[in-house]
Amino acid sequence: MNAASPRIPIVNVEAQHQKLRPEILRALRDVFDSRAYVQGPHVQVFETAFASEHGAAHAAGCSNGTAALSLALEAAGVGPGDEVITTSYTFVATAESILHLGATPVFVDIEPGTYNMDPRLVRQAVTQRTKAIVPVHLYGTPCAMDELREIANENDVVIVEDCAQAHLAKFEGQAVGTFGRAGSFSFYPGKNLGACGDAGMVVSEDENTISRVKKLLDHGRETKYLHDIVGYNRRMDAMQAAILGVKLRYLEEWTSRRRENAEAYDSRLKPAGFQVIEPPDNTEPVYHLYVVQVDNREETTEALASNGIGFGIHYPTPLHLQPSMSELGYKAGSLPVTEAVAGRILSLPMCAELSQGQIDRVCDVFVGVARP
Ligand SMILES: Cc1ncc(COP(=O)(O)O)c(C=O)c1O
Repeated sequence: MNAASPRIPIVNVEAQHQKLRPEILRALRDVFDSRAYVQGPHVQVFETAFASEHGAAHAAGCSNGTAALSLALEAAGVGPGDEVITTSYTFVATAESILHLGATPVFVDIEPGTYNMDPRLVRQAVTQRTKAIVPVHLYGTPCAMDELREIANENDVVIVEDCAQAHLAKFEGQAVGTFGRAGSFSFYPGKNLGACGDAGMVVSEDENTISRVKKLLDHGRETKYLHDIVGYNRRMDAMQAAILGVKLRYLEEWTSRRRENAEAYDSRLKPAGFQVIEPPDNTEPVYHLYVVQVDNREETTEALASNGIGFGIHYPTPLHLQPSMSELGYKAGSLPVTEAVAGRILSLPMCAELSQGQIDRVCDVFVGVARP
């Protein structure tokens, strides 16, 4: 690596925290002094602010994005014996949330340009046992919510959106998370809106769904020591809520920067013949990741690494081929588009803090070695 070229991380949480340090520390001191460390007013304030940013009526803060999705599904009535149609091309948490309820994930293949589940295949996968559809807005690109909603309505199944990578993303002007029964979000540190630890959120238009989620995540409490359902401890920490409340004020601005950065990458990589994410015109994607396909991934990642450039592979093994999912009975070849892209995708550095100079450097190294 050239000594004059500092490392370019795939995501730069440190730079974000340097800027916000005084504000975050003030917010943390508030929580510390309040002695309300679990749930409490800081969580409530953040729930209201986050719901309002997404045009959602109600929200429930919880311990992480996996818990958020599972709680939303449970509140929607998903349970043992049910089938839930989703994508195999996602982080494992999507399917875990379904499996932990005793339900079965039914994986459908994806569309090649958006990497999101193909609505035509969702329609074909509906059976008598289908209880829910879980669209994952992967990389921050919204799924085709019009078609999915039509399928859900026609077949009387619920939609629970996995929005872990898609804070503020919009489909036809409407924020993700608000199209179905509920939407779940993750605030894992590297997410577009990230905590300094684990946190998650369920949003919904339906007050009953959120009351049910809030009850489930706090031991099924009716009152302090009266528990009318068997619940969990999946509550949100006040410290995380306070940090997220500070960061939420910058999310619009950070999201615009991500879009500009994606445009800058696109303008170099598309003319060079690379397959980049193709968000449909009726969506406003938020580029949680900037993903490009390459023919020679190993060679390319070696070149990036030796030039001090961070990268990721999201995700190398689709869920239907994971050892933990082998009982579901899928085989190599079951989902051809998913399997083909999993062998070719590569995530380049992407965050609001990335500069044009850094993007130029990443592209110089990348184009110098990668083959479309
Ligand atoms: C698509 C997707 N779903 C669910 C999750 C789970 O979120 P968490 O890590 O907060 O549990 C993540 C993030 O890691 C994700 O990317």
